[in-house]
Amino acid sequence: MTTQALAPNVHCVGVKDPGLTVFDIVIPTEYGTTYNSYLVRGTEKTALIDCVKRPFAEEFFRNIEEILPVGKIDYVVINHSEPDHSGALVDLLKRHPNVTVLLSRPAKTFIDNLVNSEYRFRVVNDNEEISLGGKTLRFISVPFLHWPDTMFTYLVEDRILCPCDFLGAHYSSPHTFNDEIHEPGKARSAFEFYYSTIMRPYKEHILKACDRLRDLPMDMIAPSHGPVLRKDPREYLSWYEDRASASRRVKEKKVPIVYVSAYGNTAAMARKVAEGVAAGGLTPVLLNCVEVPMPRIIDELDEAVGFLIGTPTLNSNVPHPILHLIGNLVTLNMKGKPASVFGSYGWSGEAVKTIQDILTSMRIKVSPEPIRVKMTPSEQDLLACVDLGRKFAEIAGGAA
Ligand code: FEO
Repeated sequence: MTTQALAPNVHCVGVKDPGLTVFDIVIPTEYGTTYNSYLVRGTEKTALIDCVKRPFAEEFFRNIEEILPVGKIDYVVINHSEPDHSGALVDLLKRHPNVTVLLSRPAKTFIDNLVNSEYRFRVVNDNEEISLGGKTLRFISVPFLHWPDTMFTYLVEDRILCPCDFLGAHYSSPHTFNDEIHEPGKARSAFEFYYSTIMRPYKEHILKACDRLRDLPMDMIAPSHGPVLRKDPREYLSWYEDRASASRRVKEKKVPIVYVSAYGNTAAMARKVAEGVAAGGLTPVLLNCVEVPMPRIIDELDEAVGFLIGTPTLNSNVPHPILHLIGNLVTLNMKGKPASVFGSYGWSGEAVKTIQDILTSMRIKVSPEPIRVKMTPSEQDLLACVDLGRKFAEIAGGAA
């Protein structure tokens, strides 16, 4: 790779991973990704902002050495300790043990356990500045975007924000800047997907960060994944702010009822649960998990005051579409929202209890008590479903 200048003596020295198909085990990366890193040279000192994933360490060092020897780096800033940005630090420290690692207090523990040996470090605080000589690094503490350790680094003179994962995108292309990309629609969709799958649970923290960045002069945003946002950087920030505040604007109190049904029995229960939710004054949203795309289901759950899952049992287990749904709940913050479960079964009916246990283990309050029905629900069973929906509405309405 040829390194790319963002400003005089500020270079992108990261690596591209266009072949990556899945990030962090569960997140599809249709357009691959990049692990961006920025080398900043002042008249007195040189700093590297973030590293790259460890398998790319040698390519990373070659990129740095297009500019200067690795041994000339004075500081390595760790904005965030996840190994896609910190992995190559282990090799960097072996090659250059005199470098000083600049990091937040929470990051120190993570990096200690990553490196597993002594290293030079300096814990930096919110708003602290370090001068490199004509270039000043300012650190902005923004925990939970998306780990407890996160901070941004702001290049004061160049008005460049390096926010690591925040405003990033899993998008790899031959270009560095957003205004050079030939398929901007795809890059945009990767940016929005990144928000939905990684940043979405941290809305309150996003809004706090947006407040802090409002008056900061900003010519460019240089995240650690995807394009450097040279054109309209503020628009990307506004989009985050708008999305993070969207659920505050939802006036309806919605209750998604997500279900699957092999023979129509769990579907019949779902319709009656919906009747009960409506009778309780909330807005039910019936979603067949096999027919409705998962991103729409996740959007509905994100805006909901609570949710219910309807699941039959297949060979003593939970059907795959419902397990897929559960897997996707990690992209949301459902804390404080109630949930319940129902379903019809043939032989043994374990799935309802399994989902109840999983939700409980995720610290989601399951109430009222789930119900399950053997084979076709009777009139009495259907009345119990209406009752479940009505009681659920009382709980969810009160919790909202
Ligand atoms: Fe790109 Fe949270 O690491």
